[in-house]
Amino acid sequence: MHKPIIIINFKTYPSSTGINAVRLAKICEKVAFETGEDIRVAVAAPDIHPISWVVSIPVYAEHVDPYPPGRHTGSVLPETVKAAGAAGTLLNHSEHRLGNKELEESIRRASKLSLVTVVCADTPSRAEEIANMKPDFIAVEPPELIGGDISVSKAEPEIITRSVELVKHKHNISLLVGAGIKSREDVVKALELGADGVLIASGIDKAEDPEQALRDLLP
Ligand code: G3P
Repeated sequence: MHKPIIIINFKTYPSSTGINAVRLAKICEKVAFETGEDIRVAVAAPDIHPISWVVSIPVYAEHVDPYPPGRHTGSVLPETVKAAGAAGTLLNHSEHRLGNKELEESIRRASKLSLVTVVCADTPSRAEEIANMKPDFIAVEPPELIGGDISVSKAEPEIITRSVELVKHKHNISLLVGAGIKSREDVVKALELGADGVLIASGIDKAEDPEQALRDLLP
């Protein structure tokens, strides 16, 4: 059995960007080393290099654009995040949604560079649609629960079981779930329902003591 995958999404909170992002990534690495858990971080593009320089846990970009190198001022390319030290990328997060054409191209471009692709979906049926694009992971997060205190595991367990059927059983793609996950109970329930891991943001990024918060929710 694989260890559950725990991705901490740093988003754009002041407490998890810039110098605070480096501090938080070091905490995640420390907890990963001490507990043996598979903890990965998804961080804003400007923070990828300073973080990947100082930690050895996997660092993912929060997003990449699908364009090729060249005349694309302001875009974040797969090549750029890879050169900065990213091992993968989130795509299509509810806070940064993509159309199908752009998403498919982003997955193709990132995969070509061997970046791990974690594609978010807001519903199980959208997850199944995305499964046909063959990302490495699909992360199902009901948008209305994101950033709140009630977890997907507690409020919408059937979303997890349905996603397990459509993503894991039907397409053989690893499934992560997220939204509102704040406790060990939330994590354990998601895993019991069949998820391979979880995505967590506010429970860690905004915690007064992120190290303790992270330790407290490990399965
Ligand atoms: O990508 C994870 C995220 O959207 C979940 O956010 O704050 O509900 O843990 P949060």
